[in-house]
Amino acid sequence: MPYLDVSNVSVRKGCKEILGDVGFQAGRGEIVSLIGPSGSGKTTMLRALIGLQGAQSGTVTVDGRRIDLSAPKAAASLRHKAAIVFQNFGLFDHMSVLRNLTLAPTLVHKRPGDEAEKEARTLLERLGIEDKAKLSPRELSGGQKQRVAIARALMQRPALLLLDEPTSALDPARVREVGHLMQDLAAEGMTIIQVSHAMQAVRSVSSRIILLQEGRVIHAADSADAATPDHPIARFMNSQDAQDNMA
Ligand SMILES: Nc1ncnc2c1ncn2[C@@H]1O[C@H](COP(=O)(O)OP(=O)(O)O)[C@@H](O)[C@H]1O
Ligand SMILES: [Mg+2]
Repeated sequence: MPYLDVSNVSVRKGCKEILGDVGFQAGRGEIVSLIGPSGSGKTTMLRALIGLQGAQSGTVTVDGRRIDLSAPKAAASLRHKAAIVFQNFGLFDHMSVLRNLTLAPTLVHKRPGDEAEKEARTLLERLGIEDKAKLSPRELSGGQKQRVAIARALMQRPALLLLDEPTSALDPARVREVGHLMQDLAAEGMTIIQVSHAMQAVRSVSSRIILLQEGRVIHAADSADAATPDHPIARFMNSQDAQDNMA
């Protein structure tokens, strides 16, 4: 049985179907990428997984434990295991970078302050922004904020990491660094679900790729299979590359 098994997730808003019967699986220590056109439901899928978005139906089984995503309280229970990095980062501007990282661990999880701070500094160093610890997120570039947001998520020591466009604000060298970090974390046993339209990043780190369109999974494949030129996922990715090159 896979570590993560998402099945039959349906989300409606008003009379509009945002997700229809979406399902995918991920093994422990695997990196799975959700791709698809803008508006295809990728962000909604991540949010539904941890109960930030109500679902009409759906289940997620993590490590053998089954959670009903249509029951708000049950859906929120995955937040103990999962951390999410939002597309807009969601950092607290009135606190230092360091405090952004240590706040939840010390207040919510009651970890000792000095221990949390030590871990926070180690993570900032790993992400190449240890010199930003005392600054406010306001004083950082988009790429630096993004790395702070990733570091803050890692402070939770999640078994499952959900990343919404984790490299959107980064230049190509940083994209590769974050890719390496994701691979290191996966090698340590973390399961990572990323939403991305940076196709090069998707190609280099994913073991499995799920293609969404209009709220439905239209193709899913191991990345080796998805790489054959006439595979529908490869065709989507190539068209996405072409669009990005024009932009
Ligand atoms: N709060 C909302 N109310 C109504 N529709 C929404 C809301 N949030 C997202 N949507 C719609 O849901 C669809 C999927 O959005 P989203 O999950 O953000 O897509 P993606 O992340 O793939 O770009 C889009 O058509 C979007 O317009
Ligand atoms: Mg999105």
